[in-house]
Amino acid sequence: MARRKTEERRGQPADPCTLVIFGASGDLGKRKLFPALLNLKRGGLLRDELAVVGLATSEMTSEAFRERLTEDLRTFAPEDVDSDLWKWLAGRVSYTPGNFRSPEAYERLAEALKAAGEAHGTGGNVLFYLATPPEFFGDIADGIHAAGLAAEPPGSWRRLIIEKPFGHDHDSARELNARLRRAFEERQIYRIDHYLGKETVQNLMVFRFANGIFEPIWNRRYIDHVQITVAETVGVEQRGRYYEQAGALRDMVPNHLLQLLALTAMEPPSSFEAESVRDEKGKVLRAIQPLTPEEVLVRTVRGQYGPGTDPAHPAAAYRAESRVAPDSNTETYVALRLGVDNWRWADVPFYLRTGKRLPCQHTEVSIAFRRPPHRLFEGTEVGVMTPNVLVLHMQPDEGISLSFQAKVPGPVVRTGNVEMDFNYADYFGRTPSTGYETLLYDCMCGDATLFQRADSVEDGWSVVAPILDVWKALPPRTFPNYPAGSWGPREADELLARDGRAWRHITD
Ligand code: BG6
Repeated sequence: MARRKTEERRGQPADPCTLVIFGASGDLGKRKLFPALLNLKRGGLLRDELAVVGLATSEMTSEAFRERLTEDLRTFAPEDVDSDLWKWLAGRVSYTPGNFRSPEAYERLAEALKAAGEAHGTGGNVLFYLATPPEFFGDIADGIHAAGLAAEPPGSWRRLIIEKPFGHDHDSARELNARLRRAFEERQIYRIDHYLGKETVQNLMVFRFANGIFEPIWNRRYIDHVQITVAETVGVEQRGRYYEQAGALRDMVPNHLLQLLALTAMEPPSSFEAESVRDEKGKVLRAIQPLTPEEVLVRTVRGQYGPGTDPAHPAAAYRAESRVAPDSNTETYVALRLGVDNWRWADVPFYLRTGKRLPCQHTEVSIAFRRPPHRLFEGTEVGVMTPNVLVLHMQPDEGISLSFQAKVPGPVVRTGNVEMDFNYADYFGRTPSTGYETLLYDCMCGDATLFQRADSVEDGWSVVAPILDVWKALPPRTFPNYPAGSWGPREADELLARDGRAWRHITD
């Protein structure tokens, strides 16, 4: 089915379809996917012609699965579940037990799809959602393909959604992409970066390209540097086994942080069609200067949290977390200085930082503008002026603020730093969202704009590859090097101080 233009379909219910969730009894289903379906239904964006087939290894009947989900949603759904809506959805949910690696599972799935299609009039449209550990991605895609379920019956679509990690480095990502493409065509594959499901992340494009005033100054002539911060207060929680292999760099940078960078730095696309947007983002990723081994040493910082120092908020060291080696060298913090080699951004540093157990949960992109060219106030009390900073706040509060200088009232010429603030909730209120509504809806409508194409996944890995190589060759000697609850290692401040800059001061 041809991709419909965003403007044409907004507000229309998505296509009829059967959603197959592999790994249906896991966390993602109860916390995000089922609550997101309920929110979509509430917003009138799902048709009655919808069915959900859960597939997982536990032996269970459909009825038992529905009962379990009812309980789980009570505990894990981010909002209270509306019982009428849940009744509507539960009536469309069935379950098929199966081992992801056994052909029988796919035979049973084919039967379940037929039954769901007949019972709920979903036609031949099927969305396969892989909510499983990544080691199953390739096998499941093969299984679907071998059972003939990836092929699109005339007039229907078949799509596959997968979520990161897409491999653990450039080569494994390429292999995975190649394997997925043996089972599905690229246009059928929807790779989720859940950051792109966040409203304010999507708003970055609207902010830049739907407002005439910013684009003329969105370049090296006016912008001094860009900072991207994704700070988390949580530690690794129960994910030690995965995190030990991944670390902060793999976990956050090639995907979430680089997607934020790409949206901030990309050229205006010629349209909001998926391919135009993805082409422009791809150009930015490919323009990021590859770091030489020497540059890795001076432009990257890694850290690992030790125990917290505030007795009011005791926090264990990373090495004391469950499923973490007591002498682990895995980084839980990373800061980078990257450059984008193109006409618009030459010589404008992009500083990226992300870490666990930082003082507050906060995601933002901040654009620091150059100082005014003529220091009119030199020699007065106003001699040192803070440059303008535009901050796009993404979480927890969504909004935009611009700081600028204003005269402090009184006979002495003094300036103060003031802020113009726009807060999303003040204008638009709060809409219940898990962050998955738009992604599921877009996929059901065939709009791939917010999903990562194979090349962008591989480009992301290319950016971090030299860092992974150098870090592997030179194990860290100072871990743990920041206390839980602090803003990361001292070296991260030095990274900017060497350039005469500082990280933006972020408070709760
Ligand atoms: C995930 C990472 O992709 O993103 C996690 O694997 C991280 O380690 C999470 O905590 C952050 O997402 P959010 O939406 O909470 O900012």
